[in-house]
Amino acid sequence: MRVLGIETSCDETAAAIVGASDAPPGDGRPLGRILAQRVHSQIREHQRFGGVVPEIAARAHLERLDGLVRETLDEAGLRLGDLDGIAATGGPGLIGGVLVGTMTAKALAFAHDLPFVAVNHLEGHALSVRLAEPVAFPYLLLLVSGGHCQLLTVRGPGDFERLGGTVDDAVGECFDKTAKLLGLGFPGGPAVERAAEGGRADAVPLPRPLWRKPGCDFSFSGLKTAVRLAATKLPPGDTRAVADLCASFQATVADVLADRCANALDMSRSETLVVAGGVAANRVLRARLAVLASARGVRLVAPPPALCTDNAAMIAWAGIERLRLGWIDTLDFAPRPRWPLARLVAS
Ligand code: KG4
Ligand code: ZN
Repeated sequence: MRVLGIETSCDETAAAIVGASDAPPGDGRPLGRILAQRVHSQIREHQRFGGVVPEIAARAHLERLDGLVRETLDEAGLRLGDLDGIAATGGPGLIGGVLVGTMTAKALAFAHDLPFVAVNHLEGHALSVRLAEPVAFPYLLLLVSGGHCQLLTVRGPGDFERLGGTVDDAVGECFDKTAKLLGLGFPGGPAVERAAEGGRADAVPLPRPLWRKPGCDFSFSGLKTAVRLAATKLPPGDTRAVADLCASFQATVADVLADRCANALDMSRSETLVVAGGVAANRVLRARLAVLASARGVRLVAPPPALCTDNAAMIAWAGIERLRLGWIDTLDFAPRPRWPLARLVAS
């Protein structure tokens, strides 16, 4: 089975072709192989605004997508007619971009008589790990990205149980705000991680929202405010002080996320903890979760960083998981700016 995936829900225009065996992975083997992929990051288009501008993003997707699809096909040595399906992010996300991606996918599917699959972007993140490593259902998932922060039990495609989520900000947003505040640039996560190198993680005491409280919810607004207050006290031009604040912030976030995961492990009794989404690329977080996993005797699986941030291989892979179950979407699928993971079994 070979599927083209298209991702356009935020500021990455991406296309990928993933190949897989038709049979479901009975023994938990990963069956996917990325045959070709292209990601065009729009960072430069949005940089001077300090965040993603939806209108600019939609136009940039429109300009780039056709070319990226052509390049992935060429690299894989395939033609559209050789494919078994076309999957595109159908939401949630910035609606202009999602429209560009789904309309392109529908047109290609219609013209070549191929099945079309509308993939929930969060399901793409949630299943991406199985493209890279043998992971059997069910598993506990910490999904941490720019717009989302939640803990879920993943029982299978379209089958998720939400254990908790953020009551205010997403954790990626918190990284992005911190970076903006400190003038480190955009996107904030990698910038904060770089700036924290050599900093002391215990230099700046910061609050740990909901620390040791029961349940699996998250809260980051208090932490965000504390970082803002600490930032105003920094001596101008003191890079060591910036490194200390970034290292302290990053360690606090990792501690808070690990604390919530510990509760989720108790609740779900899962033997595998998977971390996905853009923030999962953070090395301090990965190391902190590895400590938790080894203390609990569970397996931690973190996809390679390039699969954690937005990409189209995860969308193609989710398309494959759905197509294997016979789940196809009709061409009247309406792109969705909001689309909770709860209701996902074939639209
Ligand atoms: O999954 P993603 O690429 O897009 C969304 O679906 O939101 O996640 C993007 C988020 C951004 O907030 C970005 O700052 C954060 O992931 N991020 C990181 C790192 N790389 C990306 N956060 C912390 N450390 C990183 N290395
Ligand atoms: Zn994402």
